[in-house]
Parts: sequence; structure tokens; C-alpha cells
Amino acid sequence: MENSEVKTLQKNLQTAQDELARLERIKPLAGAAAAVVHDVRNSLGVIQSTAQFVLSKLRPSDKEKEAWELVERNVESIRNLLKGYLGLARQSESPKEESSLNEIVDRVTHFIDVQSKKNGVQVIKKLASPLPKILIEPSAVESAILNLSINGVEAMAGGGSLIFETQLNKQNKTVCLTVQDSGPGISKEARDNLFKPFFTTKAKGSGMGLYSAKAIVTQNGGKIYCESEPGRTRMILAFPHG
Ligand SMILES: Nc1ncnc2c1ncn2[C@@H]1O[C@H](COP(=O)(O)OP(=O)(O)O)[C@@H](O)[C@H]1O
Ligand SMILES: [Mg+2]
Repeated sequence: MENSEVKTLQKNLQTAQDELARLERIKPLAGAAAAVVHDVRNSLGVIQSTAQFVLSKLRPSDKEKEAWELVERNVESIRNLLKGYLGLARQSESPKEESSLNEIVDRVTHFIDVQSKKNGVQVIKKLASPLPKILIEPSAVESAILNLSINGVEAMAGGGSLIFETQLNKQNKTVCLTVQDSGPGISKEARDNLFKPFFTTKAKGSGMGLYSAKAIVTQNGGKIYCESEPGRTRMILAFPHG
């Protein structure tokens, strides 16, 4: 595969990202945006399978391999981010399954791997074992956690650490996840609006990430809290078990 083709794919990716950012700004048309997000996600699926096809043809020693893997993983990350937005527009809930919060955290950290490395963010996992399973919609909860994680990475422009910690709270029979970043923290004013739709302080933000995350967590019987001070922000999820 030619380098120019890698560049074309990367340009397509950028176009898809720009398009998403543009759609997010058209607030009154959120419903229509959901439909377009769906289409963008499908197009990314085509790019992803193309990259996978190319990868399957390359030998481990081929120097283009790394570039194609980068394309493949980035497409995967974006597709999963989009899943979070689709969650908002979903018609009905997906079936709840006994799920491992630790496994979900593993999937999320895998997806943010590229972006966190690029931003100089060190990802640390402190996962409790054993941890009881919880009855949730795993892919919806995964996209909620993905949204929190991306916020954490975005908050640490100059690098930092993102800590995922799971715990069993025996007293109130909950399984908890804390996603902690070492970013600047959230102002009091922002904290009051955090979970409201379209609240954003980012130039290209949608303000839908935490709104969507809260909706999903609540629909799955859980609770979401935020604790923030300069240098330490924690998003805490708690789900009942057993
Ligand atoms: N970890 C964090 N550190 C600092 N600010 C945060 C963090 N998470 C969320 N925020 C604030 O909450 C706002 C809303 O977040 P979100 O709903 O995900 O929308 P978006 O990321 O598109 O702005 C962000 O714009 C930011 O101001
Ligand atoms: Mg966000």
C-alpha cells in the first residue's frame, strides 16, 4: 500500500471528525444529527474493514504495517465514541447482561490508548479482584465510561495521569468505578451545569457527553457523581449488585 493511500484514509477520517463536530453545533437538529451520526459511523465501518483487509495482506516486516494499524485503531476509537452519541437516540434499551465492570474498563482503556499516548497521558488501572458482576447494558455503559475517559484526556492538554479504579462497596452493595484525572479541575459554575445537555466549555464540544453518560448510568440503575478540585477530578459511578 502506498503512503498516499494512508494519507487519503487519514484525511477521510479527519473529514468525518470535522463533520461530527459541525453536526454537534447544530443543536436544534439533534435528532437529525443522530441519523447522520449513524451514517458517519457506517462509513467509518467501511474504512475500518478496508484497513483490516490491507493489514491482512501485509507481512509483519512491512513498514506500512504500523501506519495501517494506527488508522484501524483510530477508526475503532471514533466509531466507539459515536456509539455514545447514538445511545442518546436509541429507541429502546438493549438487553441487560451480567457484566464485568473490569472488562469494560479494559475495553475502554484499549480504545483510548492512541489518544492518551498522543496527549502524554499515562493510563493507570487499579481493578478490584474479584469484583461481582452487575446487571447492565454493557455496550451502553461502556460508551458512558468512554465519554468520561475522553473528557479526562481532553482536560490534560499538557499530559498527566488517568486512573481507573474499581471497588466493591460491601456496605451498600454497590460496585464502583472512579475515573480520575490530574487536569485543572472543574469550576463551581461548570459543576452546576455538567450534566445538562449542550453544556460545554470547549470550542468544538457538543456538551452531550456527560448528559448522555448520566442518562445511560441512570437507566442502568446506577448513579454518577463528580468531585473536583484543581489537579484532581473524579467521576464516580456506582451500580447495585446482587
Ligand atoms: N474531567 C474533566 N475535567 C475538567 N472539565 C471537565 C471534565 N469533564 C467534563 N468537564 C467539563 O464539562 C463540560 C461538559 O462535558 P461533556 O458533556 O462531555 O461535553 P464536551 O466534552 O463535549 O464539552 C466540558 O466542556 C468541560 O467543561
Ligand atoms: Mg465530552
